[in-house]
This record gives sequence, structure tokens and C-alpha cells, in this order.
Amino acid sequence: MRSAVVLALAALMAACAHRHLPPPPSALQFGDPVRGLTFARQNCASCHAVEAGVNWSPDLAAPAFESIANTRGMNARSVNVWLGSDHPSMPQLIVAPEDGDDLWAYMLTLRRR
Ligand code: HEC
Repeated sequence: MRSAVVLALAALMAACAHRHLPPPPSALQFGDPVRGLTFARQNCASCHAVEAGVNWSPDLAAPAFESIANTRGMNARSVNVWLGSDHPSMPQLIVAPEDGDDLWAYMLTLRRR
């Protein structure tokens, strides 16, 4: 038990000694667009058009991802808030914030600018 604490402390100090190194990319990156697209194809494509250039959703009431991405005021936070709460038209669709970040990173690639 005690040696585990000492080991953990030693590891911590070793980590601090390397503090001048840049943080790993994952700490800087905000969402992964490739994972976002994969996630969207698996979880959203039954209702939403998720691919670039596709404007007709399977569920006509569901906006295409391209138009969501280009909606004024839409951002990572609002998408995550939307996805983190239950919604009548999207029952039982609670998405973890990490997946929401990936989704938004993908949606950003759909922005027309
Ligand atoms: C069962 C069908 C269905 C599934 C699955 C679904 N959606 Fe939706 N979604 C809808 C419908 C219908 C609307 C429009 C409803 C409304 O605005 O009240 C909508 C609206 C939205 C909106 C809000 C758009 C806006 O302009 O306010 C977002 C964001 C969204 N969906 C993202 C997602 C994501 C991301 C996924 C996959 C994780 C997903 N949806 C899966 C049916 C679905």
C-alpha cells in the first residue's frame, strides 16, 4: 500500500520533470471529425442527412447536418446541450459530451464559408 503511494509520487514527479514538453495532442484537440462522422452514420443517419452535400434527410422533419452546421448561433455548446437532454423528436438519444465534441468537429467541416 505504502509502496504504491511512493510509486505514484515518483511517477508524478517524473511527469512534472517533463513539464516543458507539449501536452499530448488529445489534450489540445477539440473533437475528432472522423470519429464524429462515424458516430453520426451509426446514430443519426436513420433520421438526418449526415453527409456533406446531402440535404434530404430520411426523416423529413430532421434538418440535414449541413444545415444544422450552418445555422446561426449553433456551436459546440448548443449542440451538446441539445444532445445531452432528452427530446420528444429524438427519444432516448442521450449523447456523451465527448461524442458531442466529435460530432461538432465533423459538423464544422460542413460549414460553408
Ligand atoms: C429518430 C430520428 C432522429 C435521430 C436518430 C436523430 N435525430 Fe436529430 N432531430 C430529429 C428531428 C425530427 C429533429 C427536428 C425536431 C425539432 O426541431 O423539434 C431533430 C433535430 C436535431 C437537432 C436540432 C437542429 C436545430 O436546428 O435545432 C440537432 C442538433 C440534432 N437533431 C442532432 C442529432 C444528432 C447529432 C443525432 C445523432 C446522435 C440525431 N440528431 C439523431 C430526429 C432525429
